[in-house]
Amino acid sequence: MKIIITGGAGFIGSHLARRLMLEHHEVHIIDCLHPYYSLERKRKQLSTIDSLCSESFTPLNLLNREETISCFQSILPDAVIHLAALPGVAYSIERPLEYVDYDVKATINVLEACGQSEAKQIIFASSSSVYGNQTGPLKEEMANGNVISPYAASKYSAESFCHVYRHLYGYETKILRFFTVYGPWVRPDMAIGIFLKKLLQNQEITLFGEDRVRDFTYIDDIVDGIYLSLTELHKSEVINIGSGKPISMLSLLQELKQYFPKMEIKKEESRIGDVVQTWADIRKANDLLGYRPQISFAQGLAETVKWAKDNEAFL
Ligand SMILES: NC(=O)c1ccc[n+]([C@@H]2O[C@H](COP(=O)([O-])OP(=O)(O)OC[C@H]3O[C@@H](n4cnc5c(N)ncnc54)[C@H](O)[C@@H]3O)[C@@H](O)[C@H]2O)c1
Repeated sequence: MKIIITGGAGFIGSHLARRLMLEHHEVHIIDCLHPYYSLERKRKQLSTIDSLCSESFTPLNLLNREETISCFQSILPDAVIHLAALPGVAYSIERPLEYVDYDVKATINVLEACGQSEAKQIIFASSSSVYGNQTGPLKEEMANGNVISPYAASKYSAESFCHVYRHLYGYETKILRFFTVYGPWVRPDMAIGIFLKKLLQNQEITLFGEDRVRDFTYIDDIVDGIYLSLTELHKSEVINIGSGKPISMLSLLQELKQYFPKMEIKKEESRIGDVVQTWADIRKANDLLGYRPQISFAQGLAETVKWAKDNEAFL
Protein backbone atom coordinates (compact mmCIF):
# COMPACT_ATOMS: atom_id res chain seq x y z
CA MET A 1 0.00 0.00 0.00
CA LYS A 2 1.08 3.60 -0.56
CA ILE A 3 0.74 5.27 2.84
CA ILE A 4 1.20 8.83 4.10
CA ILE A 5 2.11 9.15 7.78
CA THR A 6 1.66 12.70 9.06
CA GLY A 7 3.77 13.38 12.15
CA GLY A 8 6.10 10.59 11.07
CA ALA A 9 9.13 12.20 12.72
CA GLY A 10 7.44 11.92 16.11
CA PHE A 11 7.51 9.22 18.77
CA ILE A 12 4.67 7.01 17.51
CA GLY A 13 5.14 7.95 13.83
CA SER A 14 8.78 6.90 13.64
CA HIS A 15 8.03 3.48 15.19
CA LEU A 16 5.06 3.04 12.86
CA ALA A 17 7.07 4.02 9.77
CA ARG A 18 9.70 1.38 10.55
CA ARG A 19 7.03 -1.30 10.94
CA LEU A 20 5.26 -0.35 7.70
CA MET A 21 8.55 -0.35 5.80
CA LEU A 22 9.41 -3.78 7.21
CA GLU A 23 6.05 -4.98 5.91
CA HIS A 24 7.07 -3.61 2.46
CA HIS A 25 4.60 -0.74 2.24
CA GLU A 26 5.54 2.47 0.42
CA VAL A 27 5.76 5.06 3.21
CA HIS A 28 5.68 8.84 2.79
CA ILE A 29 6.33 10.91 5.89
CA ILE A 30 5.08 14.47 6.30
CA ASP A 31 6.25 16.44 9.32
CA CYS A 32 6.96 20.11 10.07
CA LEU A 33 9.45 19.23 12.85
CA HIS A 34 7.53 21.36 15.34
CA PRO A 35 9.78 22.60 18.18
CA TYR A 36 7.43 21.31 20.93
CA TYR A 37 10.40 19.15 21.85
CA SER A 38 13.98 19.04 20.59
CA LEU A 39 14.47 19.06 16.83
CA GLU A 40 17.69 17.12 17.25
CA ARG A 41 15.64 14.34 18.70
CA LYS A 42 13.06 14.43 15.89
CA ARG A 43 15.87 14.28 13.33
CA LYS A 44 17.34 11.30 15.18
CA GLN A 45 13.91 9.62 15.21
CA LEU A 46 13.70 10.21 11.46
CA SER A 47 17.18 8.83 10.91
CA THR A 48 16.23 5.59 12.66
CA ILE A 49 13.67 4.94 9.92
CA ASP A 50 16.19 3.67 7.39
CA SER A 51 17.96 5.29 4.52
CA LEU A 52 14.66 5.09 2.66
CA CYS A 53 13.41 7.95 4.76
CA SER A 54 15.41 10.70 3.08
CA GLU A 55 13.54 10.01 -0.18
CA SER A 56 10.13 9.77 1.41
CA PHE A 57 10.24 12.66 3.91
CA THR A 58 8.43 15.90 3.06
CA PRO A 59 8.93 18.82 5.45
CA LEU A 60 5.52 20.49 5.43
CA ASN A 61 3.25 22.25 7.86
CA LEU A 62 -0.25 20.84 7.45
CA LEU A 63 -1.68 24.22 8.36
CA ASN A 64 -0.82 25.22 4.80
CA ARG A 65 -3.97 24.02 3.08
CA GLU A 66 -2.92 24.44 -0.58
CA GLU A 67 0.47 22.79 -0.10
CA THR A 68 -1.08 19.94 1.87
CA ILE A 69 -3.63 19.23 -0.86
CA SER A 70 -1.05 19.42 -3.62
CA CYS A 71 1.40 17.20 -1.70
CA PHE A 72 -1.30 14.54 -1.22
CA GLN A 73 -2.30 14.83 -4.89
CA SER A 74 1.28 14.26 -5.97
CA ILE A 75 1.55 11.12 -3.82
CA LEU A 76 -2.00 9.72 -4.37
CA PRO A 77 -1.96 7.59 -1.21
CA ASP A 78 -4.13 4.52 -0.62
CA ALA A 79 -4.18 5.29 3.08
CA VAL A 80 -3.33 8.20 5.36
CA ILE A 81 -2.35 7.79 9.01
CA HIS A 82 -2.78 11.19 10.61
CA LEU A 83 -0.64 11.40 13.75
CA ALA A 84 0.55 15.02 13.43
CA ALA A 85 -0.66 17.16 16.31
CA LEU A 86 0.50 19.22 19.21
CA PRO A 87 0.34 16.74 22.08
CA GLY A 88 0.41 17.43 25.81
CA VAL A 89 -2.28 18.48 28.27
CA ALA A 90 -0.28 21.00 30.33
CA TYR A 91 0.96 23.01 27.33
CA SER A 92 -2.58 23.11 25.92
CA ILE A 93 -3.79 24.97 29.01
CA GLU A 94 -1.10 27.62 28.42
CA ARG A 95 -1.71 27.87 24.66
CA PRO A 96 -5.23 26.69 23.78
CA LEU A 97 -5.40 28.51 20.42
CA GLU A 98 -2.37 26.63 19.08
CA TYR A 99 -4.31 23.42 19.65
CA VAL A 100 -7.21 24.71 17.60
CA ASP A 101 -4.66 25.27 14.82
CA TYR A 102 -2.47 22.18 15.07
CA ASP A 103 -5.01 19.60 16.26
CA VAL A 104 -8.21 20.83 14.59
CA LYS A 105 -7.46 23.03 11.56
CA ALA A 106 -4.53 20.89 10.38
CA THR A 107 -6.77 17.82 10.69
CA ILE A 108 -9.45 19.47 8.52
CA ASN A 109 -6.79 20.17 5.87
CA VAL A 110 -5.66 16.53 5.98
CA LEU A 111 -9.26 15.30 5.69
CA GLU A 112 -9.84 17.56 2.67
CA ALA A 113 -6.54 16.48 1.08
CA CYS A 114 -7.50 12.81 1.58
CA GLY A 115 -10.74 13.44 -0.28
CA GLN A 116 -9.13 15.36 -3.13
CA SER A 117 -6.43 12.73 -3.58
CA GLU A 118 -9.01 9.90 -3.44
CA ALA A 119 -7.43 8.07 -0.49
CA LYS A 120 -9.49 5.03 0.47
CA GLN A 121 -8.98 5.32 4.19
CA ILE A 122 -7.75 7.61 6.93
CA ILE A 123 -6.65 6.58 10.41
CA PHE A 124 -6.88 9.40 12.94
CA ALA A 125 -4.84 9.42 16.17
CA SER A 126 -7.25 10.40 18.92
CA SER A 127 -6.72 10.08 22.62
CA SER A 128 -8.09 8.64 25.85
CA SER A 129 -8.40 12.25 27.01
CA VAL A 130 -11.72 12.52 25.09
CA TYR A 131 -13.34 10.52 27.92
CA GLY A 132 -12.79 13.39 30.38
CA ASN A 133 -12.84 12.54 34.07
CA GLN A 134 -14.84 9.31 33.93
CA THR A 135 -13.73 6.21 35.83
CA GLY A 136 -13.91 2.47 35.25
CA PRO A 137 -13.15 0.74 31.97
CA LEU A 138 -13.84 3.33 29.25
CA LYS A 139 -15.98 2.08 26.39
CA GLU A 140 -15.97 3.87 23.05
CA GLU A 141 -19.55 5.14 23.36
CA MET A 142 -18.77 6.86 26.69
CA ALA A 143 -17.06 9.91 25.11
CA ASN A 144 -19.59 12.73 25.45
CA GLY A 145 -17.61 15.94 24.95
CA ASN A 146 -17.37 16.67 28.68
CA VAL A 147 -13.57 17.00 28.65
CA ILE A 148 -11.19 18.89 30.93
CA SER A 149 -8.31 20.24 28.79
CA PRO A 150 -7.96 22.17 25.52
CA TYR A 151 -5.96 19.23 24.14
CA ALA A 152 -8.89 16.88 24.80
CA ALA A 153 -11.40 19.37 23.39
CA SER A 154 -9.32 19.64 20.20
CA LYS A 155 -9.15 15.86 19.80
CA TYR A 156 -12.89 15.53 20.40
CA SER A 157 -13.56 18.26 17.85
CA ALA A 158 -11.16 16.71 15.33
CA GLU A 159 -13.02 13.40 15.74
CA SER A 160 -16.25 15.21 14.80
CA PHE A 161 -14.60 16.58 11.64
CA CYS A 162 -13.52 13.03 10.77
CA HIS A 163 -17.20 12.02 10.84
CA VAL A 164 -18.12 15.05 8.69
CA TYR A 165 -15.53 14.28 6.01
CA ARG A 166 -16.45 10.58 5.96
CA HIS A 167 -19.91 11.75 4.89
CA LEU A 168 -18.53 14.25 2.38
CA TYR A 169 -16.05 11.92 0.66
CA GLY A 170 -17.08 8.39 1.63
CA TYR A 171 -13.65 7.11 2.59
CA GLU A 172 -13.20 4.76 5.55
CA THR A 173 -12.48 6.73 8.71
CA LYS A 174 -10.86 4.86 11.58
CA ILE A 175 -10.59 6.85 14.78
CA LEU A 176 -8.16 5.21 17.19
CA ARG A 177 -8.01 6.44 20.79
CA PHE A 178 -4.53 5.77 22.14
CA PHE A 179 -3.92 5.35 25.87
CA THR A 180 -0.66 6.71 27.44
CA VAL A 181 1.99 5.38 25.10
CA TYR A 182 5.52 4.59 26.35
CA GLY A 183 8.61 2.69 25.20
CA PRO A 184 11.93 3.60 23.58
CA TRP A 185 11.82 7.26 22.39
CA VAL A 186 8.92 7.97 24.76
CA ARG A 187 7.96 11.64 24.45
CA PRO A 188 10.09 13.76 26.77
CA ASP A 189 7.06 15.62 28.21
CA MET A 190 5.36 12.44 29.45
CA ALA A 191 5.70 11.18 33.05
CA ILE A 192 7.94 8.21 32.21
CA GLY A 193 10.20 10.37 30.01
CA ILE A 194 10.47 13.09 32.67
CA PHE A 195 11.14 10.58 35.47
CA LEU A 196 13.84 8.73 33.53
CA LYS A 197 15.70 11.93 32.70
CA LYS A 198 15.73 13.03 36.34
CA LEU A 199 16.61 9.58 37.69
CA LEU A 200 19.57 9.22 35.35
CA GLN A 201 20.80 12.61 36.58
CA ASN A 202 20.27 11.55 40.24
CA GLN A 203 17.68 14.27 40.71
CA GLU A 204 14.56 14.14 42.84
CA ILE A 205 11.39 13.40 40.89
CA THR A 206 8.07 15.17 41.39
CA LEU A 207 4.91 13.10 41.47
CA PHE A 208 1.81 15.15 40.66
CA GLY A 209 -1.20 13.36 42.15
CA GLU A 210 -0.25 10.01 43.67
CA ASP A 211 -3.80 8.72 43.16
CA ARG A 212 -3.45 9.01 39.36
CA VAL A 213 -3.88 5.83 37.32
CA ARG A 214 -2.87 5.35 33.68
CA ASP A 215 -3.44 2.62 31.12
CA PHE A 216 0.22 2.59 30.04
CA THR A 217 0.49 1.01 26.58
CA TYR A 218 3.76 -0.16 25.05
CA ILE A 219 4.64 1.40 21.71
CA ASP A 220 4.81 -1.94 19.85
CA ASP A 221 1.24 -2.73 20.93
CA ILE A 222 0.07 0.70 19.69
CA VAL A 223 1.80 0.08 16.36
CA ASP A 224 0.12 -3.35 16.18
CA GLY A 225 -3.26 -1.73 16.79
CA ILE A 226 -2.67 0.79 14.00
CA TYR A 227 -1.41 -1.90 11.64
CA LEU A 228 -4.40 -4.16 12.27
CA SER A 229 -6.79 -1.23 11.72
CA LEU A 230 -5.05 -0.46 8.43
CA THR A 231 -5.06 -4.00 7.07
CA GLU A 232 -7.87 -5.96 8.77
CA LEU A 233 -10.67 -3.43 9.25
CA HIS A 234 -12.74 -2.47 6.23
CA LYS A 235 -15.21 0.04 7.66
CA SER A 236 -15.35 3.24 9.65
CA GLU A 237 -15.06 2.76 13.41
CA VAL A 238 -13.96 4.39 16.67
CA ILE A 239 -11.70 2.04 18.64
CA ASN A 240 -9.67 2.20 21.86
CA ILE A 241 -6.07 1.03 21.56
CA GLY A 242 -4.73 0.53 25.07
CA SER A 243 -3.32 -2.17 27.32
CA GLY A 244 -6.56 -2.56 29.28
CA LYS A 245 -4.43 -2.82 32.45
CA PRO A 246 -4.40 0.41 34.45
CA ILE A 247 -1.31 1.07 36.60
CA SER A 248 -1.17 3.54 39.49
CA MET A 249 1.58 6.13 39.50
CA LEU A 250 2.79 4.60 42.78
CA SER A 251 3.15 1.19 41.09
CA LEU A 252 5.08 2.85 38.28
CA LEU A 253 7.49 4.31 40.84
CA GLN A 254 7.84 0.95 42.61
CA GLU A 255 8.80 -0.67 39.29
CA LEU A 256 11.28 2.13 38.56
CA LYS A 257 12.84 1.76 42.01
CA GLN A 258 14.27 -1.61 40.98
CA TYR A 259 16.45 0.25 38.47
CA PHE A 260 17.05 3.37 40.55
CA PRO A 261 17.14 2.27 44.23
CA LYS A 262 18.20 5.72 45.45
CA MET A 263 15.10 7.34 43.96
CA GLU A 264 13.78 10.36 45.86
CA ILE A 265 10.22 11.53 45.36
CA LYS A 266 8.53 14.84 46.06
CA LYS A 267 4.73 14.60 46.09
CA GLU A 268 2.59 17.46 44.81
CA GLU A 269 -1.08 18.02 44.08
CA SER A 270 -2.24 16.83 40.68
CA ARG A 271 -2.15 19.35 37.85
CA ILE A 272 -5.19 21.00 36.38
CA GLY A 273 -6.38 19.29 33.19
CA ASP A 274 -5.03 15.84 34.21
CA VAL A 275 -7.76 13.22 34.45
CA VAL A 276 -7.80 10.98 37.54
CA GLN A 277 -7.77 7.71 35.66
CA THR A 278 -7.50 6.17 32.22
CA TRP A 279 -8.50 2.56 31.71
CA ALA A 280 -9.25 1.26 28.23
CA ASP A 281 -12.00 -1.22 27.55
CA ILE A 282 -10.32 -3.01 24.63
CA ARG A 283 -13.02 -5.55 23.81
CA LYS A 284 -13.95 -3.76 20.58
CA ALA A 285 -10.31 -3.85 19.41
CA ASN A 286 -10.15 -7.54 20.40
CA ASP A 287 -13.33 -8.37 18.46
CA LEU A 288 -12.88 -6.23 15.34
CA LEU A 289 -9.11 -6.31 14.90
CA GLY A 290 -7.95 -9.39 16.79
CA TYR A 291 -5.83 -6.90 18.78
CA ARG A 292 -4.09 -8.46 21.81
CA PRO A 293 -1.48 -6.40 23.70
CA GLN A 294 1.67 -8.51 23.97
CA ILE A 295 4.02 -6.60 26.23
CA SER A 296 3.60 -6.60 30.03
CA PHE A 297 4.27 -3.37 31.90
CA ALA A 298 7.38 -4.85 33.58
CA GLN A 299 8.78 -5.95 30.21
CA GLY A 300 7.96 -2.63 28.52
CA LEU A 301 9.46 -0.58 31.31
CA ALA A 302 12.66 -2.67 31.23
CA GLU A 303 13.03 -1.93 27.50
CA THR A 304 12.36 1.76 28.10
CA VAL A 305 14.90 2.03 30.93
CA LYS A 306 17.49 0.25 28.77
CA TRP A 307 16.83 2.66 25.91
CA ALA A 308 17.05 5.69 28.24
CA LYS A 309 20.42 4.55 29.61
CA ASP A 310 21.76 4.15 26.07
CA ASN A 311 20.34 7.47 24.83
CA GLU A 312 20.68 9.83 27.76
CA ALA A 313 21.66 12.69 25.47
CA PHE A 314 18.22 12.61 23.82
CA LEU A 315 16.13 12.60 26.99
N1 LIG B 1 2.05 9.50 22.98
C1 LIG B 1 0.87 9.28 23.57
O1 LIG B 1 0.80 8.80 24.71
C2 LIG B 1 -0.42 9.61 22.85
C3 LIG B 1 -1.63 9.28 23.48
C4 LIG B 1 -2.81 9.58 22.83
C5 LIG B 1 -2.81 10.17 21.59
N2 LIG B 1 -1.62 10.49 21.02
C6 LIG B 1 -1.65 11.13 19.69
O2 LIG B 1 -0.83 10.39 18.80
C7 LIG B 1 -0.23 11.29 17.86
C8 LIG B 1 1.28 11.10 17.86
O3 LIG B 1 1.77 11.39 19.18
P1 LIG B 1 3.32 11.34 19.55
O4 LIG B 1 3.39 10.99 20.99
O5 LIG B 1 4.06 10.55 18.54
O6 LIG B 1 3.67 12.91 19.42
P2 LIG B 1 4.96 13.62 18.77
O7 LIG B 1 4.90 15.04 19.21
O8 LIG B 1 6.18 12.84 19.09
O9 LIG B 1 4.68 13.53 17.21
C9 LIG B 1 3.82 14.42 16.52
C10 LIG B 1 4.56 14.90 15.27
O10 LIG B 1 3.68 15.73 14.52
C11 LIG B 1 4.41 16.79 13.94
N3 LIG B 1 3.48 17.89 13.66
C12 LIG B 1 2.71 18.55 14.55
N4 LIG B 1 1.97 19.48 13.91
C13 LIG B 1 2.25 19.39 12.58
C14 LIG B 1 1.80 20.08 11.43
N5 LIG B 1 0.91 21.08 11.49
N6 LIG B 1 2.33 19.72 10.23
C15 LIG B 1 3.24 18.72 10.13
N7 LIG B 1 3.70 18.04 11.22
C16 LIG B 1 3.22 18.36 12.42
C17 LIG B 1 5.44 17.15 15.02
O11 LIG B 1 6.57 17.81 14.48
C18 LIG B 1 5.78 15.76 15.59
O12 LIG B 1 6.94 15.22 14.97
C19 LIG B 1 -0.69 12.69 18.24
O13 LIG B 1 -1.82 13.02 17.47
C20 LIG B 1 -1.08 12.54 19.70
O14 LIG B 1 -2.03 13.50 20.10
C21 LIG B 1 -0.42 10.22 21.61
